[in-house]
Amino acid sequence: MSIKNCHNFEDFRKLAKKKLPSPIFHYIDGGADDEITLKRNTESFNKCDLIPNVLANVGKPDLTTTIFGKKINLPVFLSPTAMQRLYHYEGDKASARAAEKFGTFYSMSSMANTSIEEISNISSGPKLFQLYVHKDKAITDDLIERSKRAGFDGMCLTVDTLVAGNRERDHRTGFTTPPKLTLQSLMSFALHPKWVFDYLTHERFELSNVSKKTDKGTNITTSVIQYVNEQYDPSMNWKDAEYIVKKWDGPFALKGVMSVDDAKRAIDIGCTAIMISNHGGRQLDGSRSPFDQLKAISDAVGDKLEIILDGGVRRGTHVLKALAAGAKACSFGRMFLFGLSVGGQDGVEKVLQNLHDEINRNMILMGCKNLSELNSSKLIYRK
Ligand code: FNR
Ligand code: LAC
Repeated sequence: MSIKNCHNFEDFRKLAKKKLPSPIFHYIDGGADDEITLKRNTESFNKCDLIPNVLANVGKPDLTTTIFGKKINLPVFLSPTAMQRLYHYEGDKASARAAEKFGTFYSMSSMANTSIEEISNISSGPKLFQLYVHKDKAITDDLIERSKRAGFDGMCLTVDTLVAGNRERDHRTGFTTPPKLTLQSLMSFALHPKWVFDYLTHERFELSNVSKKTDKGTNITTSVIQYVNEQYDPSMNWKDAEYIVKKWDGPFALKGVMSVDDAKRAIDIGCTAIMISNHGGRQLDGSRSPFDQLKAISDAVGDKLEIILDGGVRRGTHVLKALAAGAKACSFGRMFLFGLSVGGQDGVEKVLQNLHDEINRNMILMGCKNLSELNSSKLIYRK
C-alpha cells in the first residue's frame, strides 16, 4: 500500500504502524489510562446529524476562514505536536511546508526538533507557536521573544499538561527520547532498518529550541513523561497566563480549555481564541470530549473568542459538524502525524488534500456556499 491509496485516517494509521518502530507508533497512537477519552473524542461526532438543504446552487464553495488574524484557505490546521523528527527525518520542516502549500497554519511545539528560526526561514505560511511554561522562567521568556521576532502569527499556551498523563503504552514499549536501544525495543528497531537508516543519517535528534538551555533536551535519555514532569511548571496559574498573553501582545489562545467558566476567564485575561481540547485523550482519561463541550462554550462566548475544536477529527463531516456547533476552525494531530510518518511532506499533503476534498464535497452536498452558513440549524442532536 502507498500513500496514493490512503483514503482515510485508518489507511494512514495502518501504514504508519508498518513503517514505524513500535515505541514510536504507540507514542503517537496512544492515550492516557484506559484510552476511553481518546476513543470518545471521535465517537462524540456521531451523536448528531447534518441536515442538508437541496437545490442551493452552491457552485464552488468558499472554504476560507480567519483565525489568529490570518485568512486561511481551509477551516483546519495542524495541531502542535512534539518531536516530529522521530516520525520522519524532515520533521517539522515537512509539516510546515505542507501547511503553507494548503494555505493553513502549521503549529510548532515547544518540544520541536527544529528551531523557531529555521522554520521561519523556510516557510512564509501562517505559523502558531505552542508554549509550555518551564520551571526556568528564562526559557519560557526566550521562547516567547524568539517566536515573536521570527514572525510567528499567533501563540497558544497549553494548559492541560501540568503533569504528564499516564501513557501506559509508553511504559510498556520503553519509549524514550532520543530513542534508546533496549532489549525490549531492539526487535522493533531491527525490523525497521529504513527508519533506523534515515534516523541515523540525518540531523541529530534534539529539542532544538531548548537544547542549549537544558541538558535534558539532547543527550540524556529520558521518557516524555519524565521530561514533562521535570521541566514544566506544575504551579502555573491564571496570573502566569495573563503575563504571557501580555508579553506576547498578539493573537493568543489557551489550548486545553474544556469548561464555560475557563473560557470566560480566557476572555478576561486578554485571549483572542481558545482551543477546546483534552490533548487528544493523552492527559485526563475520563474527560469529556471537546465536541461534547463545544456548543455550550460557543453559546456562552462564541461572539467574543475564536473557538478552535481540537481532538478526534478524522473526517470532513467532523469539521462541518464542529463549525455548525460554533467552532471557527478545527485542528488535528494524529492524522497528519501518520501522514508525515508514511510520506514526509507528501504524506501530510495527502492528508490535507483528502480533508480538503471531503470538506468541499460535503459543503456542496449540504447546500452551503460558505462556512458561515454552517450554523445550528444544520445540526440535530439525536435523542
Ligand atoms: C500531541 N499534542 C501536543 N500538544 C501540545 O500542546 N504540545 C505538544 O508538544 C504536543 N505533542 C503531541 C505529540 C503527539 C504525538 C500527539 C499525538 C499529540 C496534542 C495535540 O496538539 C492535539 O491536542 C491532539 O493531537 C488532538 O487530538 P487528535 O487530532 O490527535 O485526535
Ligand atoms: C504529548 C506531549 C509532549 O502529548 O504534549 O506527548
